[in-house]
Formats: sequence, C-alpha cells, structure tokens
Amino acid sequence: MKAVIPAAGFGTRFLPATKAQAKEMLPVFDKPTIQYVVEEAVASGIDDILIVTGRNKRSIEDHFDKSFELEQTLQSGGKYEILKQVRDITDLADICYVRQKEQNGLGDAIHCAKKHIGGEAFAVMLGDSITKGPVPCTKQLIDVYEKYDSSAISLEAVPKSKVERYGIIKGTEVEENIYNIDKLVEKPLAHQAPSNLAIMGRYVLTPDIFDKIDETVPGVGGEIQLTDALSKLDSIYGVLFEGQTYDIGNRLEWLKTSIEFAMDDPKSRDNLIKYMSEIIKDA
Ligand code: UTP
Repeated sequence: MKAVIPAAGFGTRFLPATKAQAKEMLPVFDKPTIQYVVEEAVASGIDDILIVTGRNKRSIEDHFDKSFELEQTLQSGGKYEILKQVRDITDLADICYVRQKEQNGLGDAIHCAKKHIGGEAFAVMLGDSITKGPVPCTKQLIDVYEKYDSSAISLEAVPKSKVERYGIIKGTEVEENIYNIDKLVEKPLAHQAPSNLAIMGRYVLTPDIFDKIDETVPGVGGEIQLTDALSKLDSIYGVLFEGQTYDIGNRLEWLKTSIEFAMDDPKSRDNLIKYMSEIIKDA
C-alpha cells in the first residue's frame, strides 16, 4: 500500500512561526513532525510515500534527502552515532513529491496524488499530526480495510464542548471500537453533533475517493473538504483506535506534545521534571 502525506497547507493557526517555514517541519522534541509521520507509515508496512507540498516547503524535501557535506563532516569528526541517525532518515522509505498549486483544502491536496496512486487503496496521513499507540494507527486502519474491504478512518472520542473543531461521525458499532459510518459532519455545533467521535487524521481510502472529490464543491472556508467527499463513499468504517493523536498545527498542542515526548526520553525526563517544578512553583 502507498501513503499520501498532505503537507501543503499555510498553517495559519501557527503564524508567525509558519510564515516562511513548513508547519510539518516544526520539531516535536528532537524530530520534525513529518518524520514521525513517515516513521508511522514505515512501521505500518508502507515504503512508498507521496508528500504533497507547496511553496515554502523545500525543507521537507531537504530533510529526507542525502546531505553529503553534513555526512562528510560528521564522518571526519568521528560522530558516528549521529551520522547513523542522519543516514537512517534518508533510508526510511521511497519518498516522492507533488506540488499542490493552490491551497484549496485537504480534499484537493489528496486529489493531487491521483496519478501516483492509480487504482489501489491507499493511506492518507496528515503531515501535521502524530499518533502514538501499541500498534501504529495506520496499521490498525489497514487491518480494518482488509477485513471489511472498505475505506477506514481513525476516530477519537472528544469532549462535547470541542466537537465544533472536528469532523464528527454518526455510526453503528459493529464490533468493539469499529463503527459502520452513516454520516459525517464537518465542524458541527455542539448541540447538533451526532456523536462525540471525531475524525483524527489517518485514513485508508479506496480509489473511488478521487471521483468523489471531483464531485465535491467547496465547503467550509471555501475549501474542498475531505469530509464532504468521504460522505459520498458507498461504505466507510471508523476505528476508535487504541492510542492517541497529537495535532501539532495548534501551538499549545504542539508544546504539550513536545513536553510529553521529552518525558518519554530517559535522558531528559529528570531534568525536565526539575525545571517544570521550579517554574510551576514561581507561577
Ligand atoms: P490543516 O487544515 O490542519 O492545515 O490541514 P492548514 O490549512 O495548513 O492549517 P491552518 O488551519 O491554516 O492552521 C491538515 C493537513 O493537510 C495539509 C496541511 O499541510 C496539513 O498537514 N493541507 C491542508 C494541504 O496539504 N493542502 C491544503 O490545501 C490544506
């Protein structure tokens, strides 16, 4: 299976940080966000990845490309451990790029992948979200796609007060944590939301999604919304996946994610706790 990583958006919620640099390259603890996404694809058994980019996104291509001068400097300086890390990034997967000419929304970004994908089912992984769980989120979706022969999307339960920020589903639970979806609504008002199950940024889609995107007119914000195209699919399942999604397109979430990931690092944990205790004491 191939994966498409849309990473062409303007990142307006994170301005001015994203004025001249890709939101997807913002580091979370010690790695750019999009590297976590590529690593999740690889851990899910995918090694053919298409990244949808746009203006100001050159650094994404540079990050996954070979850097001769850097490697030579590290080699001659005897810094072999970091040299291995740098080389591993290049060897992760086969990565191709396509440019979205105008930022017309997520649906439009995915449509840019049509030629590369051909007639097979494929994964979509948002370039500004990271997932963590016992089994990679995309792998959990691939398993459901294979079982039901149908598109599958990741879901997370969100507080009722936050449903207005997400695409929300209405569905029937067919087995534990798996829903046959009847309806998807983009950013509903809290009292109109059909549930509190939100679409979270990982998808396995059957190729008929491209025709559905063609049929989709601009929706919320004048953009071609993926949720609107998903609503047109004949069959779609939702997976309340085991794990958590981090949306780093929002600066507070980005900061919290960096702290949480640093806490997972044994070399940083104690110093971080000490530092945070000190600043909380003075707050
Ligand atoms: P978002 O809606 O979170 O990204 O899309 P955005 O538009 O960059 O963010 P804000 O709302 O202005 O802050 C989720 C993912 O889809 C990509 C983004 O780069 C992000 O990784 N995307 C979005 C595209 O590739 N093209 C688009 O037209 C829109």
